[in-house]
Amino acid sequence: MKLNRELRRDAPIGVFDSGVGGLTVFREIMRQIPNEKIIYFGDTARVPYGSKSQETVIRYSEQIVRFLRTFQVKTIVVACNTASAYALDTLEKDTDIPIIGVVKPGAKAAAEVTRNGRIGVIATEATIGSQIYTEYIRELNRDVTIYGKACPLFVPLVEEGLLQDPVTDEIARRYLAELIDIDIDTLILGCTHYPLIRSTLARIVGDRVTLVNPAYETAKELKEMLQAQGLLNDESPSLGSNQYQFFVSDKAEKFVRFANSIIKYGILSAKAVNMEEY
Ligand code: DGL
Repeated sequence: MKLNRELRRDAPIGVFDSGVGGLTVFREIMRQIPNEKIIYFGDTARVPYGSKSQETVIRYSEQIVRFLRTFQVKTIVVACNTASAYALDTLEKDTDIPIIGVVKPGAKAAAEVTRNGRIGVIATEATIGSQIYTEYIRELNRDVTIYGKACPLFVPLVEEGLLQDPVTDEIARRYLAELIDIDIDTLILGCTHYPLIRSTLARIVGDRVTLVNPAYETAKELKEMLQAQGLLNDESPSLGSNQYQFFVSDKAEKFVRFANSIIKYGILSAKAVNMEEY
């Protein structure tokens, strides 16, 4: 699909996720490119995506892209690893604005960082089952072995706020034991929620293992892409311009509470949207 040349550099960036997890990506974008306006959508009515089929995740993602495009966004970031794994190819084919996912930037960083060629990936069942990280990393570096491990309990633990807790510690120890035995030297945090338990994971795998955070890598790649396309906003948005707007498909108040617990920006409100209309 040909890119739309009429895009404005002061237009917002659309960011979406299955729920609150993509706020880790939002947070990196606001830190790395603070002049940008962002429209964030969290699909809180239909989370989790990690246990759904590819057709369903594609259908949900297409609806969200239609919703975000009503804001004339200049680009879309698929902040969800599962949606990036399952839906990015389809979304790219049908969209005339740049669209980036979180998997490729994370895979690229891991391929560059590893020294012993043993990379661990932790993510949802869907992302691990799709083998997408393996595919991308091996396109860049054929001499590596990738070990995937689905960690489905991490998402509810994070959403329960158990970021520093003996229960999270114990579960992390069990999930990571085989990756530690295999002697990985790089671990990709392949799910939006995992950067929030980064210190627990780092302590368990030890300091010989480098953690790769796709949220950080994605914001970096987004900045480079916007620069290359002449779309980076160089002027800070005027006061009262609603620089960051949040939309969800359910439970707006719960979303706002979680958002304020991880982002020190003072997110005052999120609006509920009926996705059946898109
Ligand atoms: N956002 C999802 C991901 O990064 C995790 C939560 C879910 O399963 O929807 O894969």
